[in-house]
Amino acid sequence: MIKLNYLGESLCKECFLRYFEEQVMRVLKGTGLLSRLSGKLVVVATSGGKDSSNALYILKELSESYDYEVAALLVNEGIKGYREHKAKALRALCTRLGVNLIEVSMKKEMGVTIDQVALLHERGKLRLKPCSVCGVFRRYLMNIYAKEVGAEYVATGHNLDDEVQTFIMNIIRGDLQSIVREGPVTRPHIGELIPRFKPLYYLTEKESMLHFILRGLETPYVECPYAKLSMRYQLRTMINSLEQHSPGTKHRLLRVKESLRKKLGQQIIQQRLRRCSLCGMPTSHDICRACEIKIELERIIKA
Ligand code: FES
Ligand code: ZN
Repeated sequence: MIKLNYLGESLCKECFLRYFEEQVMRVLKGTGLLSRLSGKLVVVATSGGKDSSNALYILKELSESYDYEVAALLVNEGIKGYREHKAKALRALCTRLGVNLIEVSMKKEMGVTIDQVALLHERGKLRLKPCSVCGVFRRYLMNIYAKEVGAEYVATGHNLDDEVQTFIMNIIRGDLQSIVREGPVTRPHIGELIPRFKPLYYLTEKESMLHFILRGLETPYVECPYAKLSMRYQLRTMINSLEQHSPGTKHRLLRVKESLRKKLGQQIIQQRLRRCSLCGMPTSHDICRACEIKIELERIIKA
């Protein structure tokens, strides 16, 4: 039996897998996505880790009933001792599921690996931490390549724990725009941004892990060596400990976020986007964040 503390219920394997799928359907139906997926291509942004593998697995499984196509996209950020192991597991999963895998190299596209970025940060030459660069470049490449293969949607493996951490991070940064924007589906402002959705939005990290194991999925348990440097990592530890003392904390935080999104959504006018003067991608500034970081890195590396 599997105990879900915050529900106060224990579920058998079959009931848990049904519950898991229901929570994914909650995202697909609740956002109106399900009725729009037919005949479309969904690209799943995958890393080879448990969450994005779960997202890929379940979206592929539902694709026959709802008549849409699925492909996987991997951005190889060039982290030695980590990326090659995860990529190997992902390739095996894609073969097992019969899903096409698109592999994109960060080094080739942006001129650097995250190993190089981490070294520059460690030496005090770059203020930005590896995760900040990785996140921006990853989203940027994901959007470009998903568009290139004709995808209408990008799905990511973010789970409830990730959402709650992001919520607290946005509070700390005072970023109300992002609180409003970050829901189960992120709608684009203008054509170049492909809508993103999060099938695991209502599922905790623990539930994601259970699903991964029960479905017989596999991944080497190596963590990104730079994860510990991020604010997210600290928040993760803190929120997990709060959840242990007071079960249901994560779900309550998610509910607070959802009601804030509803209330703030009517008051906050989202920034108008224009095109990056260098690459043409949507941005709220003259130059998009990815181009800005790329230029800064080129300058540091040349110096
Ligand atoms: Fe690997 Fe952030 S760079 S988790
Ligand atoms: Zn740009």
